[in-house]
Amino acid sequence: MKVLSVVGARPQFVKLAPVARAFAGTGHQHVIVHTGQHYDAVMSDVFFEDLQIPAPDVHLGVGSGSHGVQTGAILAAMDAVLDEHRPDWVLVYGDTNSTLAGTLSAVKLHLPVAHLEAGLRSFNRRMPEEHNRVLTDHAADLLLAPTAVAVDHLAAEGLAERTVLVGDVMTDVLFTVRDAVAGRAPELPGGVSPAEPYLLATIHRAENTDDETRLRAVVEQLSGLPMPVVLLAHPRLVARAATLGLELRTGSLHPTAPLPYPAMVAAAAASAGVVTDSGGLQKEAFLLRVPCTTLRTETEWVETVELGWNVLRGDLTGVAEAVTRPRPADTDAAPYGTGDAARQVVAALEARLGA
Ligand code: UD1
Repeated sequence: MKVLSVVGARPQFVKLAPVARAFAGTGHQHVIVHTGQHYDAVMSDVFFEDLQIPAPDVHLGVGSGSHGVQTGAILAAMDAVLDEHRPDWVLVYGDTNSTLAGTLSAVKLHLPVAHLEAGLRSFNRRMPEEHNRVLTDHAADLLLAPTAVAVDHLAAEGLAERTVLVGDVMTDVLFTVRDAVAGRAPELPGGVSPAEPYLLATIHRAENTDDETRLRAVVEQLSGLPMPVVLLAHPRLVARAATLGLELRTGSLHPTAPLPYPAMVAAAAASAGVVTDSGGLQKEAFLLRVPCTTLRTETEWVETVELGWNVLRGDLTGVAEAVTRPRPADTDAAPYGTGDAARQVVAALEARLGA
């Protein structure tokens, strides 16, 4: 079996790591295509190095652009790649512009598409990721769902027959890296002591960064929190803040460059709490049993909220109370699987080959 993975953005490299490892133990051929959506070393190369992902076989180098420009550039470049490789499966990940473009190119060439992390829904049609995941799910031939809730969403949209519950591959990689960095001191920016409680924050969603009033309100909230806030500043946030003349180094806020994955996991594990709008980090916080406060009005990872480890503060009220709330009740619940999702992905691709 020949499988061609299409990745391009930071969270996709994390998801690719356990999948590439699972393929390495088989006789299957795994081709990696990097679209180039993310290109800074801290957004791309360090993930391949730290997570021991094989170098991409193909690099499209599309870079940044508006949604149409970026998606279109990937789409235009993919035809030749798929024509050359003619894989048995095109495997797409998550909900970025790279996901949608990879899917469209494959279905137009009548190549079977499998969507990893299928069935997640925010039901917020203003999110670019929501369009990407809905369109991808409806175009794909095999829907690899991470959770029972995702399976239900797909069934509600008439897609049950194409759906397989495999668990969440981010759990696989998180558990591996968590164990590898156990006991490692977090790398914190100057002025933040690991001996004192601190919060780990990330903000990068369009809904929080694109509107000036909203972004200023988010920064004001974070800067007023009652303990140091280590802000891992995504390039989108840095670019927006610079354009607006908005100072990120203010009050409790300690902005610093995005961290490589192992350092990020170590920093999250040692923190008093996480404040984020990232989907992956909400779940990583839960898996590390670190309380999370999410600056969005909804989440795709509803289990984190239902189990008490995540609270939504999309309206930005009561954020200080949320980050200092008592620790939630311990739980053995494993809604994201037990860390063997990548193996199940390979098994599902084998089972449905030619089906
Ligand atoms: C993308 C995904 C989002 C995902 C996120 C993870 C889409 C629609 N969004 O958002 O779902 O959660 O990746 O990080 O696909 N930039 C750099 N260097 C880079 C990459 C980006 O400077 O290596 C800057 C550029 O100014 C660029 C901006 O960040 O315009 C946004 O990058 P883009 O890939 O368009 O979207 P993300 O916000 O990263």
